[in-house]
Amino acid sequence: MAVQYVHYKGIKFPPGYNSVENLCFAENEFEVRDDDIFNVTYPKSGTVWMIEILSLILNGGNPSWNQSMLNSCRAPWFTTQLGLEAAHLLPPPRLLTCHLPIHIFPKAFFSSKAKVVYTLRDPRDVLVSYYHFSKMCVPFENPKSFNHFLESFLSGDVPFGSWFDHVTGWMKLKGKSNLLFISYEELKQDLFGIVERLCHFLGKELDEAAITSVVENTSFEAMRRNDMCNSTMLPKEFMDQEKGTFLRKGICGDWKTHFTVAQSEYFDKVYQEKMEGLKGIFPWEYTRQEN
Ligand code: A3P
Repeated sequence: MAVQYVHYKGIKFPPGYNSVENLCFAENEFEVRDDDIFNVTYPKSGTVWMIEILSLILNGGNPSWNQSMLNSCRAPWFTTQLGLEAAHLLPPPRLLTCHLPIHIFPKAFFSSKAKVVYTLRDPRDVLVSYYHFSKMCVPFENPKSFNHFLESFLSGDVPFGSWFDHVTGWMKLKGKSNLLFISYEELKQDLFGIVERLCHFLGKELDEAAITSVVENTSFEAMRRNDMCNSTMLPKEFMDQEKGTFLRKGICGDWKTHFTVAQSEYFDKVYQEKMEGLKGIFPWEYTRQEN
């Protein structure tokens, strides 16, 4: 049976936990506090990784909070009813998560001092990760084939819309002091350095031991072991982990094991067109990482 997505402002959202009312509330009525910290991503770009990093930083590197509560409670998805309720209960500073494109993001943010950490990733790796995730996440349509999914991704006909629109939309705010752009590739290359940069951005300076604790507790292996972030606690009706693993490979460049030469050329052509004006600034355009 075809999945009945929720449609809001030109974007389709997975059903079940998103509603037009909640999305409209998030955009127009959500009260943003000056000390709120938003973790914003396009899906499969490192959302859960960043939740772990930020919530550990906010707790001075002490992993006990991260290990005592699901990440969706520590950093609620405020576009859902449950997440909204959890957001109201959080002590400040609140860590809040969403995949919202800029045109649906809470209006109140733009006149606040709240901060956004926007994590982005090589779109080819996003696509591969999203393809596998769509097979196991029940509210998402099961991809017909990898090639079909690639076509849908490139045309923006996937939940949360076009990667290109999401990234170019948010990049328009680059340079504002309350926004920090971090790439998945930088996280892989220098996690310690990025944690330091995040601490500075948040005004939460940690000593070397605390930063080391953040780094150790957010390694791929540590997160795979941590039931509070590896999604194994989620009900099977939501995520069927017999069909895959949420923390799947955690590497850069996995697209190379999925794309044919023709698919890669096709992807590059669309990328060149859509990213006109922003080319040459992203790590995946000038490095080739295999880690
Ligand atoms: P893969 O499917 O390529 O393995 P999101 O949280 O936005 O849904 O992103 C999920 C992707 O981030 C998955 O990518 C997952 O493995 C990866 N990821 C999560 N935590 C990670 C970590 N600590 N190190 C490296 N990759 C991580």
